Amino acid sequence: MSGVDDIIRKKKFLAEGNVYLPHIAVIEKVIEETPAVKTFHFNFKDEKLREEFTFESGQFGEYSVMGFGEAPFCISSSPTRRDHFEVAMQAVGKVTRALHQLGVGSEIGFRGPYGNSFPLDFLKGKNLVFVGGGIGLAPLRSLIWNVIDNRDEYGRVNIVYGARSSADLCFKYDLDAWEKDDSIDIVSAIDREDGVWTGKIGLVPNVLGEVAPAADNAVAIVCGPPIMIRFTFPALEKLGFTPEQMITTLEKRMKCGIGKCGRCNIGNLYVCRDGPVFTYSQIKDFVSSEH
Ligand code: FES
Repeated sequence: MSGVDDIIRKKKFLAEGNVYLPHIAVIEKVIEETPAVKTFHFNFKDEKLREEFTFESGQFGEYSVMGFGEAPFCISSSPTRRDHFEVAMQAVGKVTRALHQLGVGSEIGFRGPYGNSFPLDFLKGKNLVFVGGGIGLAPLRSLIWNVIDNRDEYGRVNIVYGARSSADLCFKYDLDAWEKDDSIDIVSAIDREDGVWTGKIGLVPNVLGEVAPAADNAVAIVCGPPIMIRFTFPALEKLGFTPEQMITTLEKRMKCGIGKCGRCNIGNLYVCRDGPVFTYSQIKDFVSSEH
């Protein structure tokens, strides 16, 4: 194992104290991203914790609703913006459906942050190519805002983002902001005509091929549905990106979040313990069969 793989493997942060003890977080704002996805803005009830809480882009937390259980999701806001933290989630299971019922002022449990994070030291000075699909933009946007807030430390920024339809595009307010940012090249697309969208049509890997960002001194950071990830890596390889120049984050089948339950393994790796951030070189043997 070498270079960036080593950096990613070693960057782990576990919450101190009782790892199963959730802290009370209060919902400050709810944004309806799509009919099925909501973003929640949280702050801790405890003032001291509010001030002391830190995390890194790419890390995740466990969110619990009393009586419904808990579920892991990446923190979708940037640690450079500390007045609250955000998570975007799709209502697909018991916990997320219960969370979607909650409004401003409701209390939930949060434990974390867990997992490793995007390797900022490795990314500094490089051109960054973000490739996202649907709600997969959530972890990427934490890093994108982090990069924007430290813009001088990074090279060119390309963003290729897509969703099934215009109704499925998440974080439209971010897409608008990035469109207006002269230091960022962004292309948003939807998979097929929906009678509303007037922008680019095409699948993310194909759009990426058309944008054709140079691989020289670049790193691609990819997150989206498994099918998108599976076709994006070969598209990047075609552009000259090596497996060490491709990074992704996986939230696969995680439950406990701290390496105890054994639910999240891909090959010999645990997503929660060894990730969720991996280079393609770390996971390429498993991606075609499991993702
Ligand atoms: S989520 Fe329990 S071991 Fe990874």
